[in-house]
Amino acid sequence: MIKKGIILAGGTGSRLAPMTKVTNKHLLPVYNKPMIYYPIDTLKKSGITELLIITGTESAGDFMKLLGSGKELGVHITFRVQEGNAGIADALKLAENFVGDENFVVILGDNIYENSFEEVVQNFTTGAHIFLKEVFYADRFGVATLNQKNQVMKIVEKPKNPETNFAVTGLYIYDSSVFEKLKKLNISERGEYEITDVNQAYINEKKMTASFLDKGWNDAGTHESLFDASKLARDMILKREKINK
Ligand code: G1P
Repeated sequence: MIKKGIILAGGTGSRLAPMTKVTNKHLLPVYNKPMIYYPIDTLKKSGITELLIITGTESAGDFMKLLGSGKELGVHITFRVQEGNAGIADALKLAENFVGDENFVVILGDNIYENSFEEVVQNFTTGAHIFLKEVFYADRFGVATLNQKNQVMKIVEKPKNPETNFAVTGLYIYDSSVFEKLKKLNISERGEYEITDVNQAYINEKKMTASFLDKGWNDAGTHESLFDASKLARDMILKREKINK
């Protein structure tokens, strides 16, 4: 049973300038809530309420002001601060003490999901699991190549000429061997430690499984996708209201 989740909410958000000049990307509005509420909700719906939020030095105070202990949202939040901008996988290193030797979930703070993950998350035993989504323009994402049995053979980070249209979305389930893998990573050409290299390490050990999302997903990291994220969030609310009528 997985109880712990990590929300990665650092980074400069440079693709969302000028809005990110004065605040962190994950505090920007997505329809009727700050972006960070969505990954919190996704984890909560998956049965995870022990959360660690990792953010940068500049906006850490704003996150605490907004979320407090998490009580209002029905979760328990711990904060850690990432110094510098060495990427998602670098931030994840800060989760080692919080996680210990348990399995856990990582979600990128700008990923909005319609799916809920309770079944996969709570049935996970060992290795790693990722969630794929077929997209039109895969070159913005980690891109997965599958074999005929739908096993992931390779992931390439933001390839110029993607081999497939299968984007690796920003929710990952890991066992605690991830922390050994993080120690062995090399810095990428864009000067960051890449989550894709972590996932590739699991693939090399034949310990990676994957499933496809069958509902809406959005990575709200650009102006266009932030706009789409608001539309998705609105649709999700309208659908729920229809069901509850
Ligand atoms: C990150 C990951 C990428 C993944 C994407 C999903 O990219 O590096 O593999 O597909 O999140 O949102 P970023 O959007 O941080 O550049």
